Amino acid sequence: MILSITVNGQHRTDDVESRTLLVHYLRDGCGLKATNIGCDTTSCGACTVLVDGESVKSCTVLAIQEQGSDVTTLEGLAGPDALHRVQAAFRAEHALQCGFCTPGMVLAAVGLLAENPHPTEREVREGLEGNLCRCTGYHNIVRAVLAAADTTGDAS
Ligand code: FES
Ligand code: FES
Repeated sequence: MILSITVNGQHRTDDVESRTLLVHYLRDGCGLKATNIGCDTTSCGACTVLVDGESVKSCTVLAIQEQGSDVTTLEGLAGPDALHRVQAAFRAEHALQCGFCTPGMVLAAVGLLAENPHPTEREVREGLEGNLCRCTGYHNIVRAVLAAADTTGDAS
């Protein structure tokens, strides 16, 4: 099937099998390996990307379902000269240990802040409950999201 999609600002047209999951398309079709696979049960959130600005677990959807969509992976988040403010906050707050969950956590946080620019701590914890950190670094992750929320009034 022919998939027409925008990934990290670049329009692409690719021939994909109808069964191809979005996460496999991104990793194997686009070579974007920051999108991790931590489970195959929609449980861990390691595969989270943004689809039209909303966070989506990319192992839960077929690539072809995102026909015409605008997908952002971690590779496409930062500008050319600086980290995205959520990435910068994760670095400043030491919100990663092994880093496996981090791409998904960052993109889930970006999606959360787009919906709710000034969340409470509880809202951050609830908003990220679909993303698991096997290093159990939740405290600093929540601090980082709250810090990112404080850096500007918008969610860009
Ligand atoms: S790999 Fe998608 S939720 Fe775990
Ligand atoms: S930092 Fe290791 S899984 Fe989250």
